[in-house]
Amino acid sequence: MTTRFDPVRSLRGEIVPPADKSISHRAAILAAMSAEPVRVHNYLDAADTNSTLHAVRDLGALVQSSADELLIRGTGLRAAAAPDHPIDVGNAGTLMRLLPGWLAAQEGATFVLDGDASIRRRPVDRVAVPLGRMGATLTATDERFPPLQIVGARLHSIAYELPVASAQIKSCVMLAALAADGATTLTEPAPSRDHSERMLAAAGVAVHRNGRHLTIGPTDELTIDELTIPGDPSSAAFAIAAAILVSGSRLIVRDVGLNWTRSGFVRIAQRMGAIVIGELEPDPGDDIPLHEPIGDLDVASGPLIATQVDPDEVPLAIDELGLVALLGCFAEGETIVRGAGELRLKESDRIATVVDGLSALGATIEATDDGFVVTGTAGLRGGTIQSHGDHRVAMLGAIAGLASREGVDVVGMEAAAVSYPTFEADVARLLQ
Ligand code: S3P
Repeated sequence: MTTRFDPVRSLRGEIVPPADKSISHRAAILAAMSAEPVRVHNYLDAADTNSTLHAVRDLGALVQSSADELLIRGTGLRAAAAPDHPIDVGNAGTLMRLLPGWLAAQEGATFVLDGDASIRRRPVDRVAVPLGRMGATLTATDERFPPLQIVGARLHSIAYELPVASAQIKSCVMLAALAADGATTLTEPAPSRDHSERMLAAAGVAVHRNGRHLTIGPTDELTIDELTIPGDPSSAAFAIAAAILVSGSRLIVRDVGLNWTRSGFVRIAQRMGAIVIGELEPDPGDDIPLHEPIGDLDVASGPLIATQVDPDEVPLAIDELGLVALLGCFAEGETIVRGAGELRLKESDRIATVVDGLSALGATIEATDDGFVVTGTAGLRGGTIQSHGDHRVAMLGAIAGLASREGVDVVGMEAAAVSYPTFEADVARLLQ
């Protein structure tokens, strides 16, 4: 499906972004791991997170949905049912990486996880290696790609140094650690999103941070009654970028997550001179907050200057780096992103798809091994961009169109539905 996004005069008004995708996946999985029913408010209704609901149903959880909440009755930590068919994760990388952490602890049971063509190109050895060390048996195509077979076992605790700053790998090992025979220690190269830490600590698990080290104690049960999902800062970032770039814009983003491990994009934009006002959560250091901060952001358009994004900042803005490239097109100077090789392993090779996509719209942008360099030219011509089935590239193209001189045709706009089914309607409401 090709969708046209014409240049607009300004964007004005308010949006409430869709519920956070990362936190929704975790809410459904943790609820399925609980023995007592869990009420989930504001669960994301999108393709990726619906795949998670299907998966937990396949594993024996009951999911009841009503107008304003989900009620999930889980199986408990060690009693997941083994379905006689592969579990289909669809396009959801987070589901593919997190779920094996729980399944690895189901002694003697066999599970197969599979997904769409994009999922079959995304590596799972990153979770198979630590889970194998804990005692489970994992088999993947070429030892690296889905389908992934997991044979559960009695798990041992490990000390594991993450090869990359990935919240998906960290969360997977944390879930397995709940059923291990002692405390598991993880060492992160740099901080990544910490939703799992917060949710598990709030569920009564002994989770402690000491700098780059995280210790997770085993438990017999999770104690969660209720979970409320904030608005997704990664989805909100598209409208925020549009309001920054389209002159005369003013946007209020309501009820968005302000967790410091997710606000890298807003901080980068602020550094570039963008007007984004809101109470971002400060870095809590070694403390693990038990909640997710939620608030509003007030955004206005204005001129930008180039910036450099260094490796430690990358995990805090990992899903928004395409938007940093877009801001770079309009900024004065050279915007450089380094240490973002992980982008090559997203729903598309996002260094290639962003660089090729924005180049086709007239940007001066070059790929590097682990990022890109954009030379700002105070604007973007427009043209046609391919989403390559990547939701974030589709929405990037749409926002580029609104801010461009000639408009943008996005080929494959339907990809947005995995995280933001109401994207086009939300944008349309802001047009003046
Ligand atoms: C996610 C973590 C990130 C992010 C993805 C969601 C999560 O991936 O890109 O969209 O929910 O944990 P990595 O942890 O692999 O960088």
